[in-house]
Amino acid sequence: MSTPVAPSSAASMHEVSDRTSELVELVLRYARGRILSSDTPLDKPIAPLDLALRAGRSIDEHGIGAERALALFEDVLAPACITTDHPQYLSFIPTAPTKASVAFDLVVSASALYGGSWLEGAGAVHAENEVLSWLAAEFGLPASAGGVFVQGGTLGNLSALVAAREHARAVATRSGAELPSRWKVVCSAEAHSSIASAARVMDVDVVAVEPGDDGVLRGDAVRAALEEHAASVFAVVATAGSTNFGIVDDLASIAAVTDEFDVWLHVDGAYGLAGMLSPMARHRFAGVERADSVIVDPHKWLFAPFDACALIYRDPEAGRRAHTQHAEYLDTLTETSEWSPSDYAAHLTRRARGLPLWFSLATHGAAAYRDAVTASIRLAHDIAREIDRRDGFRLVREPQLSVVVFEREGWSKADYAEWSARLLDEQHAFVTPSSHAGRPNTRFAIINPLTTYEHLTAILDTMA
Ligand SMILES: Cc1ncc(COP(=O)(O)O)c(C=O)c1O
Repeated sequence: MSTPVAPSSAASMHEVSDRTSELVELVLRYARGRILSSDTPLDKPIAPLDLALRAGRSIDEHGIGAERALALFEDVLAPACITTDHPQYLSFIPTAPTKASVAFDLVVSASALYGGSWLEGAGAVHAENEVLSWLAAEFGLPASAGGVFVQGGTLGNLSALVAAREHARAVATRSGAELPSRWKVVCSAEAHSSIASAARVMDVDVVAVEPGDDGVLRGDAVRAALEEHAASVFAVVATAGSTNFGIVDDLASIAAVTDEFDVWLHVDGAYGLAGMLSPMARHRFAGVERADSVIVDPHKWLFAPFDACALIYRDPEAGRRAHTQHAEYLDTLTETSEWSPSDYAAHLTRRARGLPLWFSLATHGAAAYRDAVTASIRLAHDIAREIDRRDGFRLVREPQLSVVVFEREGWSKADYAEWSARLLDEQHAFVTPSSHAGRPNTRFAIINPLTTYEHLTAILDTMA
């Protein structure tokens, strides 16, 4: 019988010892404090040289110890990161994870879950798939729809478009048609930059179609593009909530055209599709139920932590055909009919990143989500009316969802930049300059249910 040997120093970081227990307590105490804090400052970046000086060197052969490393994070590094879930963070598309989702994110790491295959992560995959099915049902997709949580909207759009091209190639090959020399994807000129990024990666061309003056892409404009580019188009991308304005394309008229031309319809709802949960906005998304693929990012308006994008295919087999990786060591995973999330996007190893949303949804129920999304839309409409009332302010477009774009009359780009920097410097708010049609403006992107009307009017007051 062999006698147990004392753990060598090679195992000292992994074994459960007084040292590792203290370290875990230390980190969890910090995490608990951050999750339950209601006054985490907005914070701001500092210049690279200053930061390097303040941080000093933390990595050497012997380690500086958990206490010092955590103190460095708490005192120097974290304050140099903007608090993206702060109620007065109103730039880009903010994030506002629920307490339940953030707390459970710790569990996902602690449990060392592998979310790539059914064999290794069946329980996690089951729960993620329940969320995807719930989303698919909300969007009116068939019960057979399914997909995977990927890192973000950029990867979700890319993976969907790769599946679309694969599908178009298979259809053309089956029918004996000649393959186009260049594949093309049709989208609005106001589509998110990730569509152009996907096209570059895929080496395909983008046909950018001008939307109407209201920013909405409609079926007639898509029809004209399809008539011109005919068989070389493998997908049309409609946007369900543009990033700059939160505008939803006319999905129903676009779907009618993609049906007629038998072209894949992808709906990029990274930010906006969550708006469908609200009775105030649901009608705007009519037609999404006819999409071949959709994305929506839980780290945006579904109140989950970074990073997660739900990618859903009407026919998951199309995703699987395009993305399954084949290798001798993987045969045991891929030669089964079991649902392995790795098969549905351009990735292999994956975090079970849908679980924080699953836990929060299971805990609070869908109605709480509907209320939180509705609150953002209502606040956006209320502040739009306030902007209308104020002299010297101009609403650029009527908000559809929860993004409000407005101008301070007479302000130059430099005025917005100076004002925005001052707001952050004074730790009042994070509101960045933007522009539309060559005119500078700024915008409130409202996601966080803790953002109030008073927060927003106080920001407007600083522009007087
Ligand atoms: C409409 C839209 N699509 C795609 C993306 C890209 O998502 P991600 O930043 O998660 O890659 C965004 C991001 O804001 C977006 O608003």
